[in-house]
Amino acid sequence: MCGIIGYIGERPACEVIVKGLRRLEYRGYDSAGIVTGDLKGLHIRKGAGRIDELVKRVDLLSMPGNRGIGHTRWATHGVPNDINAHPHSDCTGKIALVHNGIIENYEPIRRELLEKGHNFRSDTDTEVIAHLIEEELKTAGDFETALRRALTKLKGSFALGIIYADEPDRLYFVRNESPLVLGIGEGENFAASDVPAFLEYTNRVIFLDDGEYAVITKDSWEVKNLKTGERVEKGIQTIEWSLEMAEKSGYPHFMLKEIYEQPKAIKDAIYGNLELIPKVAREIAGYEKMYFVAMGTSYHAALVGKYLFQRLTKRVPVVEEASEFRYEFEDLVDDKTLVIAITQSGETADTLAAMKLAKSKDAKVLAIVNVVGSMATRIADITLYTHAGPEIGVAATKTYTTQLVILTLLAIEIARILKTAEKEFLDLLEKELNNVPDIVSSILELNEGIRELAENLKEKRDVFYIGRGIGVPTALEGALKLKEISYIHAEGLSAGELKHGPLALLEEGVPLVAVAPPGKTLNKLIGNIEEAKARGARTIVVGSSEELKRVADTLIAMPPVEELLSPIPYVIPLQLIAYHLAVLRGNDPDKPRNLAKSVTVE
Ligand code: F6R
Repeated sequence: MCGIIGYIGERPACEVIVKGLRRLEYRGYDSAGIVTGDLKGLHIRKGAGRIDELVKRVDLLSMPGNRGIGHTRWATHGVPNDINAHPHSDCTGKIALVHNGIIENYEPIRRELLEKGHNFRSDTDTEVIAHLIEEELKTAGDFETALRRALTKLKGSFALGIIYADEPDRLYFVRNESPLVLGIGEGENFAASDVPAFLEYTNRVIFLDDGEYAVITKDSWEVKNLKTGERVEKGIQTIEWSLEMAEKSGYPHFMLKEIYEQPKAIKDAIYGNLELIPKVAREIAGYEKMYFVAMGTSYHAALVGKYLFQRLTKRVPVVEEASEFRYEFEDLVDDKTLVIAITQSGETADTLAAMKLAKSKDAKVLAIVNVVGSMATRIADITLYTHAGPEIGVAATKTYTTQLVILTLLAIEIARILKTAEKEFLDLLEKELNNVPDIVSSILELNEGIRELAENLKEKRDVFYIGRGIGVPTALEGALKLKEISYIHAEGLSAGELKHGPLALLEEGVPLVAVAPPGKTLNKLIGNIEEAKARGARTIVVGSSEELKRVADTLIAMPPVEELLSPIPYVIPLQLIAYHLAVLRGNDPDKPRNLAKSVTVE
């Protein structure tokens, strides 16, 4: 997992690149580096650490040249250190490149190149690419041919930015299973792993597809097929996200900003899909065999989707982690199957693999995606966008609630077509969904109280989250948020499971968060909360029923909301608890350790 930004134009390249790298840090932040080129040749500065440290330590902002490429790394091959940081270069020092992805066959290539006398400096898989191009250049007539010959020998995923000292007017960018987008300016051009990296300069973009490469000069761009070298026609798209949308807007962290953006994001998700949903629903309503595939938070959205579909459409989708689906479901998918893939980034390796498997079996694939133009949107037969805008914080928040909006709208519409629920009830649900942004706004007003609650929890070692029915995925999501950013051990489970083992872990003072929306199992859940309380658990209850006051040590009082819509507002306090605990414990909630925003390797 890494971020790439390239620039060619009239500005000092290092300045554009450092800014871009700061915006790409969510993709990885264990080391970084830049190569720039001028008439004297290439200049590389790099090292372990975050961009701001490196700006000081190796003076990234004083590099010469008006073209260059930068990289922020999240290590896969080779520990994060100064030598393994990108860019990497060949023996002559004339070729330098940065890489996002994994080269699966780097070992045999490296052995072969060592035998031919190449001198390797790092432990990375990336460095072999520079030497391989150098080797091909000995026989190819020109650099571009050498590049193509070398790259077609690689197996694995890669997005690359490449600079060659003897071609001072151009940069090369290649995409294969890792994201890469060109930014088209006036007298300057850009390339990056993600749009916010250059959005300050241009919003005109071209998304590269797998197996394509781009040659950019300051005044031109060309996209070609890696195998054939033939030109590929590409259209320029205009991105409506403003730079401000991609920055913190005065919040201390992206995560908090993104939590607060939810009322707007939910509205956009509803209105952005109003016209499409009925069409898509008609296209998929006929499928009885349905799989929902996703990972992490998106998987929890899929679980909510299952409850919605069961209740409203009377069909039972199988919800599977994409990492399991891709290996275990091969024989179960056919042309009568619908696969709904849910992915914020649209680049999660396992989810893409699950989608590709489905496509290879002629299944219908619908993707629910946030990132426009991402790989998932190109694999899917149909895409519905969450319209949440860029999410920079590693922990998913607004993209989760907007995924839930789409699943809700879809379930309602399919239920209308299949006539599996009362029309009045469906109308009511749809009407109330329109009120959810306001409900979420009112819950955000509880922020200060939740911060105080977090003060009392900050020394705790374990937290349990329970729910029943459609509250279960919310409990799972609350626990995931807490562990990933606060590093407190958390478990989410269905309340019915408590007695079957986990109750043994409850002792004096252990916090137990109960997700308690209205519904037919609320009384059962109250019984479970009582049991936990009797064992000394400190109960924090999220709900609106009066009865909850009796069992809650702390009640997070929710406005009334229809049970099937409750997963959207009920997750908000859980996001805030996790956020405040992370901050109170001195963690950076935007950049949790060991994690990165999009998991583009298996
Ligand atoms: C957790 C989180 C992850 C992602 C997961 C899938 O806060 O963000 O668990 O949900 O990595 O990512 P996408 O949705 O991009 O496929």
